[in-house]
Amino acid sequence: MRIALGCDHGGFPLKAKVAELVASLGHEIVDLGTDSSCAVDYPDYGLSGGLAVSTKQADRAILLCGSGVGISVAANKVPGVRAGVCHDTYSAHQGVEHDDMNVLCLGARIVGEALALEIVEAFLGAKFTHEERHVRRLGKLLEIERRANSGEWSAD
Ligand code: RB5
Repeated sequence: MRIALGCDHGGFPLKAKVAELVASLGHEIVDLGTDSSCAVDYPDYGLSGGLAVSTKQADRAILLCGSGVGISVAANKVPGVRAGVCHDTYSAHQGVEHDDMNVLCLGARIVGEALALEIVEAFLGAKFTHEERHVRRLGKLLEIERRANSGEWSAD
């Protein structure tokens, strides 16, 4: 698969090891930065990661920030993105199998390197099951997204 990999400065300490693992598993990496520990803004990287998936430049994305939260919130604003913060391997594979999660978000200040790599491997090894109940629930998610984008609801 083509995997977009992005992070802010909080996620940067994990980025190289994640990239190494993703490449070693035979995936192609679309590197979205950042490339140093200089402070940047996580919404910029959540947006690039979300867009990479939404525009099909990548099949999935892995996004890293300090907690995983900010970058997941940003990525989830992009239509077609289903991003989840997963700090355990069960969520990382079940999120794909049941929810068709296409963006994995990790907090480099929360999980250590060894666990983070196991989570990434679980995410990349999982496939959506296409079971009827999961397809139905995914359809409901897509309907929420369609209605939100239609301007039917206002957050004001
Ligand atoms: C950066 O200090 C930090 O706020 C960011 O990486 C992330 O944890 C936000 O959710």
